[in-house]
Amino acid sequence: MSRGALIVVEGLDKSGKTTQIKNCLQILRRDGFDVCQLSFPDRTTSIGQLISSFLRGETVLDDRVVHLLFSANRWEKWKEIKERLMAGTTILVDRYAYSGVAYTASKGYDWDWCLGPDKGLIAPDLVIYLSASSKVLETRSGYGQERYENQLFQNRVSETFEKLVTHKWLRISSDRPIEEVTHHMIPPIRNIIDSCQNGALPLGTLWT
Ligand code: TMP
Repeated sequence: MSRGALIVVEGLDKSGKTTQIKNCLQILRRDGFDVCQLSFPDRTTSIGQLISSFLRGETVLDDRVVHLLFSANRWEKWKEIKERLMAGTTILVDRYAYSGVAYTASKGYDWDWCLGPDKGLIAPDLVIYLSASSKVLETRSGYGQERYENQLFQNRVSETFEKLVTHKWLRISSDRPIEEVTHHMIPPIRNIIDSCQNGALPLGTLWT
């Protein structure tokens, strides 16, 4: 069945995900593709506002509660994601369940427990991992404003992300000019959209 593709962009804080998604959307729309963007956390919902307040350091919450809130924030978008994909729209997602696992497991919580709440979410057709050294990232504008933006923790998150990366992920270094990164992202995105449009890829679920 023809459908849109679910494409996730992951990476450390300030790795350029948001900028890259914006650039890719612009190029893909110019070329006539039906594409849209989602971001997690989605700070517009009431769960997302609670998460946002926690990230800004205004609310204290148990780490496990926060993990479950991040997951609930994805589940509240599950139906919308499915409907948009089935309607033929490709979705570029700024962070997904991989961030959930990478950030909570980096605090020392059990791996399987971290995976649990997101089990059954729609699996992305492509994950693009923007890699960058935490030294470079901390020089980027706005770094340090939110809870997890410090080099020690980001190094741990980076190590945890490495455990999640599979051969199916596309790893792109973001330690280079913005346009160059975009240039590397577009061809694989077009390919995966083609495969989904041709009905070659059935919808999968996490974590299978
Ligand atoms: P953002 O800067 O991309 O909006 O992400 C906000 C922060 O939340 C970032 O430090 C990563 C973290 N995060 C989690 O800890 N768990 C999650 O499930 C997600 C999506 C993000």
